[in-house]
Amino acid sequence: MEQQRAVEPFDVVDLITTKRFGRALEREEIAWVVDAFTRGVVAAEQMSALFMAIVIQGMERDEITAMTEAMIASGERMDFTKLGRPAIDKHSTGGVGDKITLPLVPLMASLGVAVPQLSGRGLGHTGGTLDKLESIPGWRASLSNDEMIAMLTDIGGVICAAGSGLAPADRKMYALRDVTGTVAAVPLIASSIMSKKIAEGAGGLVLDVKFGSGAFLPAVADARELATTMVQLGADSGLQTVALLTDMDAPLGRAVGNANEVRESVEVLAGGGPRDVVELTLALAREMLALAGKADVDPEPALSDGRAMDAWRRLIAAQGGDPDASLPEANEHETVRAERDGTVQRVDARAVGVGAWRLGAGRARPGDPVDHAAGVEVLVRPGDRVRAGDPLFIAACDSAGRMARGLDSLRSAVQLGDSAPPTRQLIAGRIAG
Ligand code: URA
Repeated sequence: MEQQRAVEPFDVVDLITTKRFGRALEREEIAWVVDAFTRGVVAAEQMSALFMAIVIQGMERDEITAMTEAMIASGERMDFTKLGRPAIDKHSTGGVGDKITLPLVPLMASLGVAVPQLSGRGLGHTGGTLDKLESIPGWRASLSNDEMIAMLTDIGGVICAAGSGLAPADRKMYALRDVTGTVAAVPLIASSIMSKKIAEGAGGLVLDVKFGSGAFLPAVADARELATTMVQLGADSGLQTVALLTDMDAPLGRAVGNANEVRESVEVLAGGGPRDVVELTLALAREMLALAGKADVDPEPALSDGRAMDAWRRLIAAQGGDPDASLPEANEHETVRAERDGTVQRVDARAVGVGAWRLGAGRARPGDPVDHAAGVEVLVRPGDRVRAGDPLFIAACDSAGRMARGLDSLRSAVQLGDSAPPTRQLIAGRIAG
């Protein structure tokens, strides 16, 4: 430690103390602490103390900008300016049944807008795009930068795992936040997400910021603050950014899991699918088209006339997947039924997500395997009338022990009442720079 103090420009204990008393850190201090933690000079226990002070005291706008810039500076920046078409990215803060990336990327590719979609794996009750796609036999998530560029040039889209070169400081910091209860803080989430998105180098970014029980910031006010902060960070760095605030109190669509979400996405690409999934796909597509300078293009026909489906098939095949292969099916199915007559007041996204996770569709720790066939079919929406004994959910998995634990969560997920529930809008707001 004495040696560290001799060569390093700041003392991390001073920074922790500054933040603990609610004072702002200087730009140079933030740049240093991010770099020093990445180099291993600042210890995990020191960094987690600083994170906790930030969770409690917050950060000012300049501090969040400095944190974002420091994480970007820790790695490479990509460049999509030579693709011959605009590159627009999309990010969702994640939810239950949120499979929008799957129909959206091929839809945009079919309309001449390239989408470099670097996606993640699921953790806890929320699913991950890569886990869903890995239920397609042969499909591989890891691509080199050259393979990504080739797909963006030839097909106009790619969905793959983020390489280790983008914002490596964020990867190390996020892993520590995950095990120290310091994820849920707007400055840390905003800088973490935007560092990767800015480093990715797209020409525009559309954010889908969720609120409601299935979101990791359930309060709409917190989601709005997160969206506003991310839009400002984008604007500050010259990345045109627009955010939609969308409801994640009920699961999106009927399918929650992995293979079943791929099937539902293919329904959307064939011109069908659940209304809410189609509505959100088209709303995000319109925002992306506007950022690409194509506000006059209507994305809807490309879902029904086969253009988006063609792009999907090419995207899957280019990553080794067989778009015609059968997807995994579970051996065991159980139906959860209504215990009485009534009107569905609520289908709690979080309880459904926890149910799917316990059935095996999700993982508790990074690196755990997932069961691609496990999942939940959601048969009711808020406002539906049901009779005692009507089916509410179908749970699917391959293990009796998991089935029992999944069903426990699903049984608590639907609230029945006698009046109509309050109306909720799927898209509750839009924030632009
Ligand atoms: N996703 C991220 O990439 N970072 C966060 O901090 C939270 C969610």
